Amino acid sequence: MKVEGRTFIITGGCGGIGGAVAQSIIAKGGYVVSFDILEEEAGQAKVKSYHPERAFYFKCNIADLDSVVSATEKTLKVIPKGSLFGAVHCAAIAPGRQWDNKLVNSVATFSKVLQVNVYGTFAVNAAIADAINSQYPDEGPFAPRVTEERGCIVNIASVVSQPVPARCLTYGASKTAVLGITQGMADFLGPSGIRVNSVSPAVVASGLMSADRLPYFQSELEAGVIFPRRITHPDEISDAILFLLENSMMNDFNIRVDGGWRGSSNWGGPVDPRKNALSLE
Ligand SMILES: NC(=O)c1ccc[n+]([C@@H]2O[C@H](COP(=O)([O-])OP(=O)(O)OC[C@H]3O[C@@H](n4cnc5c(N)ncnc54)[C@H](O)[C@@H]3O)[C@@H](O)[C@H]2O)c1
Repeated sequence: MKVEGRTFIITGGCGGIGGAVAQSIIAKGGYVVSFDILEEEAGQAKVKSYHPERAFYFKCNIADLDSVVSATEKTLKVIPKGSLFGAVHCAAIAPGRQWDNKLVNSVATFSKVLQVNVYGTFAVNAAIADAINSQYPDEGPFAPRVTEERGCIVNIASVVSQPVPARCLTYGASKTAVLGITQGMADFLGPSGIRVNSVSPAVVASGLMSADRLPYFQSELEAGVIFPRRITHPDEISDAILFLLENSMMNDFNIRVDGGWRGSSNWGGPVDPRKNALSLE
């Protein structure tokens, strides 16, 4: 599948990984439309720094279906007709709170994380798959299976989706659900010629991973990764995403880009991990 001339919606397209993917797609001659929660002016400025003509921005809250559908409808009006081919779904949150043993204190965070990371993933996959299909004649729910490739969606999970470590009690479980949504969507959208895959990064230098968190995560990588035990560059994630977009046989697959991550619980180590963990996510 060629990226050139095709349009991809990038949720979280103004963030670290989303920005890297957007620029890779543009470098291959594609169009990108960023859906992000930045105010209109800031979002426009960001995407125009990617490309003055082949990058668009629509403010969108992925946790709100109306907002996602509205941004998708606007997308179909500005891009070259019939060019919407896929999505790279990068928008997510990872809120943290102080460690303690009161699990009920995690319930409110869990609810928020579910709304953005899980409901948002389902809403984005659904609205964008529908928009891709809307570019073709509607032959009803039991139309014959198509033979042409209509599109590809890549969701972003995480190494902490499986297994989920204690420090990622809410975020990790939300990313397990992203893997489930990816599998279900891949199976459901097969008859429409739309592939669905995911990428699971380890620790990436991005907005989600602010500079003050990096030293802690560096020590976690040194404790639990095979090689290389370093922070991942956003380009290394975007390379994996482009591979999934471009290789037409890749479907229903999760690529871990993690240097061989072997978990981060470390209960058996010399130091109780709760003493050093920054927060409970
Ligand atoms: N950075 C890491 O170490 C890491 C590791 C594993 C997985 N991930 C995943 O990678 C993906 C990209 O994250 P990133 O590292 O680029 O972080 P980032 O914070 O740089 O980018 C996330 C983007 O999502 C946007 N966003 C947040 N909530 C939104 C909402 N409700 N609606 C629309 N946009 C919203 C933010 O404004 C931001 O631009 C996420 O799914 C994240 O969970 C990141």
